[in-house]
Amino acid sequence: MSGAAKYSVLEHLRDGRPIEVRALHPSDKDGMLAAIGRTSSQSIQRRFFGPKKGFSDQEIAFFLNIDFERHVALVAQIDEDGRAAIVGGGRYIMVAPDQAEIAFVVVDAYQSQGIGTILMRHLTILARKAAVKELVADVLPENTAMLKVFGKFGFRPASKRTFQVVHLALQLA
Ligand SMILES: CC(C)(COP(=O)(O)OP(=O)(O)OC[C@H]1O[C@@H](n2cnc3c(N)ncnc32)[C@H](O)[C@@H]1OP(=O)(O)O)[C@@H](O)C(=O)NCCC(=O)NCCS
Repeated sequence: MSGAAKYSVLEHLRDGRPIEVRALHPSDKDGMLAAIGRTSSQSIQRRFFGPKKGFSDQEIAFFLNIDFERHVALVAQIDEDGRAAIVGGGRYIMVAPDQAEIAFVVVDAYQSQGIGTILMRHLTILARKAAVKELVADVLPENTAMLKVFGKFGFRPASKRTFQVVHLALQLA
């Protein structure tokens, strides 16, 4: 397992509140499920490209059992009245030898405060360290916030095109 499994940095929301960006731990199941419970159906739909009533044990295990080599996941954690709460997450998964697919979700109440951008920045740092050559992402065309974040990092439309989904790619090397 790489050093990414111990990743932890302090960041700040636009309003100055501190957040920790850290590696997702196997013990984060309750925190992750609590975050999903606070996320609107529209946001879930934008993340998973369809309505989701819940997650199977198999899906939850997939999301939590990260090897930090082929699958790297970070969360954004904030202090809410003395309790640590996960309010966003991002991950990349290797889909080809040098290519990883990246995706995010931020709890609605914390969207548009910079968390998506911060997670993107740190996942890019980890991907570069791991010598990933290309990041790719699929985004729904109406997902202005996600398109904006990817645009800031230089993602460009990829040649592959399918109806109703925007395919983006960023060359890292
Ligand atoms: C997409 C998502 C991850 C972005 O996270 P975030 O924490 O809101 O992102 P940030 O705050 O860093 O940046 C969002 C940007 O979009 C802008 N934005 C948000 N909603 C917008 C809208 N409807 N129209 C135009 N711009 C919008 C914000 O102002 C911000 O831009 P700025 O940095 O120039 O101010 C988050 O909105 C989310 O979880 N959405 C639902 C899940 C999802 O879509 N996942 C993507 C799957 S690949």
